[in-house]
Order: sequence, then structure tokens, then C-alpha cells
Amino acid sequence: LNILVLHGPNLNLLGRREPGVYGLATLDDITALLEREAQTLEAKIETLQSNHEGVLIDAIHDALGKHDGILINPGAYTHTSVALRDAIAGVNLPTVEVHLSNIHRREPFRHHSYIAPVAVGQISGFGPDSYRLGLYALVNYLKQKS
Ligand code: DQA
Repeated sequence: LNILVLHGPNLNLLGRREPGVYGLATLDDITALLEREAQTLEAKIETLQSNHEGVLIDAIHDALGKHDGILINPGAYTHTSVALRDAIAGVNLPTVEVHLSNIHRREPFRHHSYIAPVAVGQISGFGPDSYRLGLYALVNYLKQKS
């Protein structure tokens, strides 16, 4: 199984961005964690971070035929992007939404996700473990489906 891992805007700043909220792990640390988890699950991952909505949308379109599922932290686009949601619905690849912080106990504008209704599920609040748990859940979901 081949999973596309997408990180949205500002996640390139992880490690020095609001460490009280997002912790000290960098994006490279998270990628290393996911590489290890993928090995255990006998899956492959490909990772992309972008601060640009259209780049993320193109990556979702390009995943068709190449990837079996998508693990995404859409960052702030979670709360704003109908276009990202439509891209996920359009390719119809099983997608799991993850967040480092628990978006439901933060500011009210973070409580709504445009992505959640087109995702298999959402994992929020466990820091880098959200990604690890998300990858585990997505791969298990795909294995059960096939
Ligand atoms: C985030 C939560 C979002 O509300 C925020 O805009 C982010 C990061 C998280 O991982 O906790 O950029 O997706």
C-alpha cells in the first residue's frame, strides 16, 4: 500500500511555531516517525508539504492511480477550503484527517472542518502521534477493504 502524506500551510515551521501548541517536533521528525511506522505496517509513504492550496489540490489529483490513500493535515485550510474538500471527494481516495492539536478545544473557528465529512475519520490532539495513529488506521482500513 502506498500512502500520500500531505501537510498544509505553516507546517514547515513546526519545531519553532507556537511550541506551546504544536510541540518541538519538526516536520522531518514527523516524517521519520511515519517512515518507521510505515515499515512496521509494510506500507510506503510519499510526503509533501505546501503553503499553497492549489499545490495541495494538484497533489490530490495526481494521487489517483499512484496512491491507495491520503493522510492529510490540512492546517488552516481545514477550516476554510471547500476546494480541498472537493478535491478529496473528487478523487474518492480513502483519506484520514489529522491534527497535532485538539482543534475541538481551541478557538471556535477551528471547531469546524470542511474535510471531516469527506474523510474516513479524524485524529486530533495527540501531537506527532496523531500522524502515527492516522497512518495505522488508514492502512488497516485499506487492508480490510482489499
Ligand atoms: C492544525 C490545526 C489548525 O487549526 C491550524 O491552523 C494548523 C495546525 C494542527 O495540526 O493542530 O495549522 O492543523
